[in-house]
Amino acid sequence: MFDRIAPRYDLLNRVLSLGTDLSWRRRALDLARLGEGSRALDVGTGTGDFALALLARSPRSATVTGVDISAGMLQVAERRATRAGVGARYERLIASVERLPFADADFDVVVAGFVIRNVGDIPRGLGEMHRVLRPGGRAVILDLHTPRNPTVRRLYRAFSLLSPRLAGALGSDPEAYRYLPRSIEAFHDPEALAALLRSAGFARVRFERLTFGIAAIHVGEA
Ligand SMILES: C[S@@+](CC[C@H](N)C(=O)[O-])C[C@H]1O[C@@H](n2cnc3c(N)ncnc32)[C@H](O)[C@@H]1O
Repeated sequence: MFDRIAPRYDLLNRVLSLGTDLSWRRRALDLARLGEGSRALDVGTGTGDFALALLARSPRSATVTGVDISAGMLQVAERRATRAGVGARYERLIASVERLPFADADFDVVVAGFVIRNVGDIPRGLGEMHRVLRPGGRAVILDLHTPRNPTVRRLYRAFSLLSPRLAGALGSDPEAYRYLPRSIEAFHDPEALAALLRSAGFARVRFERLTFGIAAIHVGEA
């Protein structure tokens, strides 16, 4: 599915979130901060939105490794990285967050933008993110959730019904955008996701809700 939506993925993100995803991403990246020589892992790196924004605001000695299960998404990421002139600082490979091909304590920061909701075995994925972080390293997770306020929830659901049509009109795959609201409904609420992070071994777990609870950012330390 992600291979199919890769070519129009960035455009649809901007349109469906009415541009709000950019401010959510900025806030998440503020919390991820890379220092001199830092190594970050971007799980579910997709078209590289998170990784490229992270590199743009980090010292030149910092690097990002991106993993994804979709070759189509990684092809778009490669083109964008080359265009941005950061190909050498952004390594990309096909792998699942459920089985990361890295040694223990290999990274200073792990970020995941709109990924965890799609992972088959979430506790296992979070466990892997914890394993590859050095002690004191930080995980930053940005994802979509169902808003708590009933009025906001109704409006949000109504808007979600439009997303397959918008996707079709903009040249993407309507079926994938029928999956999107279903995946959000089926996802853990922020409190439950925080509990899973603690069970995976993370300390000082906290989260902030964004835009009426449509999204949330979780932070935990290894
Ligand atoms: C909604 S996109 C988000 C892409 C990017 N992180 C962003 O912020 O735009 C979700 C990505 O997660 C990837 N993905 C889904 N399950 C995964 C898994 N188990 N391991 C690694 N990547 C996964 C998908 O292929 C897709 O590229």
